[in-house]
Order: sequence, then C-alpha cells, then structure tokens
Amino acid sequence: MGDNQLQTSFSVTLIFLNENDLKKDLPISSQHQQLRLEIHREADDICLTVNNDAGVCVFKFSITRDTECCRVATRSFLITLGCFSIIMRFSTQSEFEIFHRMLCSWHELRRPQSVFQQRTDDSSALQYFQFYGCLSQQQNMLQDYLRTATYQKAILLNDVDFRDKVVLDVGCGTGILSFFAVQAGAKKVYAVEGSSVAKYAEILVKSNNLSNKITVLSGKIEEVCCPEKVDVIISEPIGYMLLNERMLESYLHAKKWLKPKGMMFPTQSDIHLAPFTDEQLYMEHHARSHFWNQRCFYGVNLSGLHSSALDEFFKQPIVDTFDMQVLMARSVKYTINFLEAKEEDLHRLEIPFVFKLLQSGLIHGLAFWFDVAFVGSRMTVWLSTAPNEPLTHWYQVRCLLQTPLFAKMGQTLSGRVHLIANKSQTTHRLVWNRIREVLNKSQMSYCDLYCSFFKVSILCICLKTNLKH
Ligand SMILES: C[S@@+](CC[C@H](N)C(=O)[O-])C[C@H]1O[C@@H](n2cnc3c(N)ncnc32)[C@H](O)[C@@H]1O
Repeated sequence: MGDNQLQTSFSVTLIFLNENDLKKDLPISSQHQQLRLEIHREADDICLTVNNDAGVCVFKFSITRDTECCRVATRSFLITLGCFSIIMRFSTQSEFEIFHRMLCSWHELRRPQSVFQQRTDDSSALQYFQFYGCLSQQQNMLQDYLRTATYQKAILLNDVDFRDKVVLDVGCGTGILSFFAVQAGAKKVYAVEGSSVAKYAEILVKSNNLSNKITVLSGKIEEVCCPEKVDVIISEPIGYMLLNERMLESYLHAKKWLKPKGMMFPTQSDIHLAPFTDEQLYMEHHARSHFWNQRCFYGVNLSGLHSSALDEFFKQPIVDTFDMQVLMARSVKYTINFLEAKEEDLHRLEIPFVFKLLQSGLIHGLAFWFDVAFVGSRMTVWLSTAPNEPLTHWYQVRCLLQTPLFAKMGQTLSGRVHLIANKSQTTHRLVWNRIREVLNKSQMSYCDLYCSFFKVSILCICLKTNLKH
C-alpha cells in the first residue's frame, strides 16, 4: 500500500513528563482530552501535529533520526524531546499498530542501504534468492560430483588449515561446505545464507548433531553480523563464466570478517578465453532468425523485425560444451586472487588478449572457461571447467560474432574483453550483442560486443579485436 493510502490521523491523549515531575515519582498528565494526531513525512523526518477539537494546533514536533522513542505497553508511545517526554496514548490498539508500523517502515526507508542492496535491483534479488531457496536447485549443485567432491578433497587434504579454527561459510546453501569444515576439525563454523534455504541448513545441522559446531546465520553476508573474526572463509560463489551472479563480490565482501593472514577457500581463479570456429553453431543462430523473414505470416509481413531478431539471438552467449578442436589458438588466462582483490575490482574487469592463430579459418567468437584453486598449507587443489576436463554444471560459455572474422594460421588476434557488472539482473538468458563492426582499409576489424548474463547477472562484455598480419 502506498503512503498516500495509509491512515495518517489518529485519536490520542497526551501525557507530558518532565524532570521535576519524575523527581516526585509522580508523572503528571497535563492533557487528558482526546486530541487529533496528524503525521506526515518531511524529507528524512516524521512530523507530528496535535490538534484539539476545534482543529487548533496545540503541539507540534518532529521525530528525526536521533529522536529517542519507543513503544510503551500495548497502545502508547514514548517520545523524549530534550528535558521532557511525552506519552501518546492511542484510543485503540489497532490505531496504535497502524501508527507504529508506519513509523517502523519510514525508519526502514531511512536506514542506509547495504552494499548488496546498492548493487542489486530488488526484484532481481528476490528472484535470485527464491531460486536458491528451492531444494531442487541446491540438489543440482550437490549432485555436481566434480564440484562437491573437489571441495571436500580440498578441505580435507588441507585439514591443518581447519583444525581448531573458526570458519565462515559464505552462502552456505544446505551447509555442505560447513560440514566439510567440521570433518576437517573446525572448532566453529558460521554458516551464512541469504535465501530461505537457511532453514533447511539449520535442520541438517540439528539432525547431524552439530549445533555446537555450526551456527547458521540467516541473511546476506553484507548484512549479517558474524559474532567473531574467522581464520578461514569457505564458499562456492561461482557462476557461469565465473562471474555470473556477482556472488564473488559477496565472497570478497566477507573478508571484513577475516583475521589478518586468514585463508580463503577457494583462493584464486583463472578465467581462460580463446577464439573458436563453429560453423554449425553460427548457422543455427542465423536459422533461428529466419522466422522473422516471413512476408506473409497470417497475412502480416514480419521482415521488418528480422535484423532486430538477429541482433537479439547473437546477444545470447551459449552455455554448453564443445570439442577442444574448435579452438583456434592457445587460451589466454586472467587471474583473480581472492586474497588480494577487493569487491570493487570486480565491478569492471579488463582482460587484454593476444592470440597467435594455430589454424586458418573463420573465427566465430570467443570461448570462456575458468579454473579455481584452493591453495592450502599442505597442497593446492584445482577445480577446472576446461573443455578437456570432465563436464561440470558450469559447462563453458561461448559468445558469437555476428560477422565471423577470417584469419590465417600465424596471424595475431589481439584486443581486450571488458566485463562490466550491471545491477539489472533481470534476464534469464545469456545475451550477447554486437554493437558495431567496422572493417577498415588496413585489414583491421573492430568488434564491440555487449553481453549480459542469465538470471541474475549482470555482466556486459565489450570485446574489441584487431586482426594483424
Ligand atoms: C552456488 S550456491 C552454493 C551453496 C552451498 N555452499 C554449496 O556449496 O552447495 C550459493 C549460495 O549462496 C547464497 N548467497 C548468494 N549470495 C549471498 C549473499 N550475498 N549472502 C548470503 N548468501 C548468499 C545463495 O542463496 C546460495 O544458496
């Protein structure tokens, strides 16, 4: 309900208290008559005007950020203004409830936004946490054998880093990583979860008799208060192409709870990119747009939308897997060290690349994958999503060029990929859009590509390529 639909006028009696009265241990009510309380908002303050029967203002004051006030019993409200206090007694409890709720919601509006709220649209966050609130989604991740087994291996093989340590699990889901930390000897684990799946984590903690070791904190890592600083942070904050979902930022944000020289599991990640050729994939994308070439669709000419449809389809990065043979050059890698990186560093990434082409042919786009490393005291364990490794639920990601580039073996393809976080987080699909492509006289081509990602995500990719002889 909007503010303008809310009740803003209430029937009250006022009781004034001042220090002299209190000394006598006897609060004196100077007004017993029914008065009319009108409230409205002015910028950050809440203004209260009290009128008598004749509509004459008898008292006026504001509740600001610093005003001391609270509920008293079931239908009264105490406000302290300097050296005196006022008790406002509402004629009915329901009127008081309306007043109190309104006050709370206005205060809520004034509360500074958390880092998460600042960077995420509300609707997107709602959708995101609803998605993770489903056990079926948690099951998908748990059943990714390579993912779950590698996490357990990395933690148990480095049990020295966990024994008797305090651990923070960021986005614990069902709590699986917290259980691994306890298996490795952790003294205490704080398991933070932003979705409703937190309640299921709590059930598992209790039914596994680990309530003394694992404390589930329901809320976003940006907003919850961890009771103590921790020795190790564990998390699985990985989206498609590593960065999708922007949860890595939450993982880095969690370092505010990490002791100096604390550890991060995972510790770093390498994003890989390489040019690929795939005529079939390219033709499939073109074929999808043919629908919009129809000149008599139930008597309607659709062809005016063909180029828009083509643009839209080529905006869609493809999440699937492919044979290594489609890659036309050795991949270039870009490393993010989670111990060193700050969350703001992920708002905008620039990845320069120089590829030496190993075969001649048409470059249809860029392929992306990533590896993450758990650097422990005993050993480093890698989790790879490379196309020549067993498949994970992250697959690989490919982004298509609308106009392929012809390249010869030995040529150099150079440019940079810009990854720019966005907070709209509204689309469920991976989107890739070539904005501009110019072929100039010197045989150099420039392609600016824009790409944003699935469900919650978030990223624009801008790619420029120079093809040199
Ligand atoms: C990829 S899942 C991993 C779940 C679990 N750790 C596992 O390995 O199975 C990420 C989880 O983090 C939660 N999450 C995402 N962002 C969060 C945030 N800012 N604060 C708290 N939890 C968050 C999601 O709701 C989701 O359950």
